[in-house]
Amino acid sequence: MSQVPVLPKCEYVARRQKLMHQLPIGACVFVSAASPQIRNGDVNHAYRQDSYFYYLTGFSEPGAALLMRQTDTGFESLILCRKKDALQEVWHGRRLGVEAAPHALQVDAAKDIGELEECLDAWTDGVSHVYAAQARDDIRQLLDASAKRLRSKARKGAQVPEFYADLDAILNEMRLYKSAAEVALMRQAGDMSARAHRRLMQASKPGVMEYQLAAEFAHACSMEGSARLAYGSIVAGGDNACILHYEDNNQTLQDGDLVLIDAGCEWDYYAADITRTIPVNGRFSEPQKVIYNLVLQALEAAIAVVKDGVPVNAMQDAAVQVITQGLVDLGILHGEVEKLIKDEAYKPFYLHGVGHWLGMDVHDVGNYKVDGQWRPLRDGMVTTIEPGIYIAADTPDVDPQWLGIGVRIEDNILVTAAGHENLTRQAPVTVAAIEALMKEQV
Ligand code: GLY
Ligand code: MN
Ligand code: MN
Repeated sequence: MSQVPVLPKCEYVARRQKLMHQLPIGACVFVSAASPQIRNGDVNHAYRQDSYFYYLTGFSEPGAALLMRQTDTGFESLILCRKKDALQEVWHGRRLGVEAAPHALQVDAAKDIGELEECLDAWTDGVSHVYAAQARDDIRQLLDASAKRLRSKARKGAQVPEFYADLDAILNEMRLYKSAAEVALMRQAGDMSARAHRRLMQASKPGVMEYQLAAEFAHACSMEGSARLAYGSIVAGGDNACILHYEDNNQTLQDGDLVLIDAGCEWDYYAADITRTIPVNGRFSEPQKVIYNLVLQALEAAIAVVKDGVPVNAMQDAAVQVITQGLVDLGILHGEVEKLIKDEAYKPFYLHGVGHWLGMDVHDVGNYKVDGQWRPLRDGMVTTIEPGIYIAADTPDVDPQWLGIGVRIEDNILVTAAGHENLTRQAPVTVAAIEALMKEQV
């Protein structure tokens, strides 16, 4: 099992500095922890910190906020957090507390979160710009209330900030480029998730429930030391694989079917997102092998184009070319390949994009177009590549041998100056490697 991971504190300090340097003179930043979410009754969902807040603080507790504002010499930072409370901590867990927070989080000062309103008023009074997550209702409500209070004190000299600006757009661009330390965490998330996929492959056999394979994956990730999965696992046997975000995971795996597993874990808030499609009984049938190898060829073609400077849509173009040509060769599509691509004739079989940014969120932040143009891939970006072919059991006008076959294969690719690095290849991907591993049952 690996050690509990932490980024060095200097990484968070550097992020805050980089952010503040980009903002207009006199700007103030307000970032808040995620609110706990009720599951049912008085039980909450497992708490996960807001990715933006964690990105800037490395602080995982609820009931916290960060204020920063520019000064003549740089900027100052204030963390608001829950104060120590012996009784609350006996019931709900340990707290960092106000006294320990400045050193632990490398901020200038700390206060009790109970003082949030007055701190918000004091820190935003008279500043030109307040940067905050405009997409979060709770944050907008806090800022609205603060502005009202400031307005009511206008005759005492209080001034409502001139502009309320969106912080996310700036942080999204920062989060899109991973530092060496972040890449190390993502490599680890990829390795751990890949090992969990290997274990799951060895546990697959006819009669096992989809949720039991999901449990096998989650167990393996926990044993690796991961705190949580990066998203709800998809374990889709047979025709269920043709439902892209299948979440029920409640069917029995059948002899002769494929099972698609889309699952990844987090490592210090960084996600892996891996899909493998395997034969339930350990042996691909001939038609399954044909479709599988076509998807694998599309995956390899899309990965092969990845290097610094290539526009992000080149990966999808490469995958579509291979898939369309392959579907024509198999007699599933009919016509001239370039025209079929132009007409998007492949869409009944491959209707999603080839991938997405990956980072602290599984569908990570960052624009795909800049000024209306597909942006170039750059050193330090991480993208998934996940082509698929889905031939649902009720697809009309298709040779029955292909019906009910759904295949997706997904890897996590780091863009480097020299080309790329595949972060998830520890999970077997060829027919031969999958069949060999599946012979070794756990
Ligand atoms: N796991 C969700 C996705 O692949 O986008
Ligand atoms: Mn994905
Ligand atoms: Mn996925």
